[in-house]
Amino acid sequence: MNSKNIKKRPPKILRFLIKLFQIILYIPIQIIFIPFAVIGIIIAIYKEMRKSKKLGVSFSAIKALQYRWLMHYFNTRPDPISVAFIKKFPCESHFGMWSIMGSLIISLRLFGFPAKLGKLVEQGEETADTTAGIRVLMFDKVMEKYVDEVEQIVLPGVGFDLIALRFTKEKKVKVFELDQVNTLNVKVETLKKAGIKHDWITYIPVDYANESWVDKLLGAGFDKTKKTLFLWQSVSLYLEADIVKKNLREMADLCVDGSIIAQDFYSKVFSSGEYSKAAKNFMNIIKKMGEPAKFGIDMSDDPKAAVELFLKECGLKMTKINLFGEKLDIEPFYCIVEAKKL
Ligand SMILES: C[S@@+](CC[C@H](N)C(=O)[O-])C[C@H]1O[C@@H](n2cnc3c(N)ncnc32)[C@H](O)[C@@H]1O
Repeated sequence: MNSKNIKKRPPKILRFLIKLFQIILYIPIQIIFIPFAVIGIIIAIYKEMRKSKKLGVSFSAIKALQYRWLMHYFNTRPDPISVAFIKKFPCESHFGMWSIMGSLIISLRLFGFPAKLGKLVEQGEETADTTAGIRVLMFDKVMEKYVDEVEQIVLPGVGFDLIALRFTKEKKVKVFELDQVNTLNVKVETLKKAGIKHDWITYIPVDYANESWVDKLLGAGFDKTKKTLFLWQSVSLYLEADIVKKNLREMADLCVDGSIIAQDFYSKVFSSGEYSKAAKNFMNIIKKMGEPAKFGIDMSDDPKAAVELFLKECGLKMTKINLFGEKLDIEPFYCIVEAKKL
């Protein structure tokens, strides 16, 4: 991904000795953390699973936010806004996260203990383990690339992603964030509690499955004649295929020349949980939390052609695709795509 962050590997024997030394140093730190971790896990699980259900907040959105917190502390992507947000967020525990991850974070920072969570790999060599982090970095790049070119940015299914706060502060661009009402209410309340300025962003509560997000967007001041970036990150997985298509067609209809739709898709094999044990576990958890995976594109034969065809059916022309795992001897399982109106 970011070649500056990918270090050249030392010889095997040296790697083994370094790892051994790191494990010896890591063990006492982990032991100190055990009592905190026991309490922390209980608090974190209560907040993530119970409190979020009570408040009707998206669990998958919490998981995505949690990963941005991890990236901050594992030195993969500094994100003080997400950290400040989590400290006041009712559905996650900053203390809980620290107590569970603290030994790894300290060990990484003190003597470079290699944490899988902070790992970056070259483009095309992504695996399920590294997807969550690389996805975030790639969408950052999309935002960086277009933020000064477009006049409006729309983030449907934004969840607790704070990317707009990170890139659009003091810019001329208009920003619209859409998500389900409870998720957005909790987001705005938490931003206020954390003292994070967000007054240039328009929040639009909507349920795509039952309401017209287009009407709501237009009603909130979206201008159909202006160049727009749609950033649709990690949402299609949770929607029925016909709703994914409908949403993309509607986005296409709102695009003037120069507008871009950036989105991601999982493969059918991944969304069904057949890809790996970890994927299966994740799909089972999100299903239990009321957000079953519903959509994936068949990437088993020619993934680029399959994604291109799908977008064409939605009135879009694919302009860029990053296929995760493309260089590995596996079927690509995820992609990030840019598209424009046909
Ligand atoms: C995995 S989260 C992604 C959040 C965010 N884009 C990110 O990357 O952090 C999926 C988001 O889609 C939203 N979503 C799912 N179904 C929706 C629907 N029918 N209407 C509106 N939003 C929906 C959820 O509330 C959740 O915030």
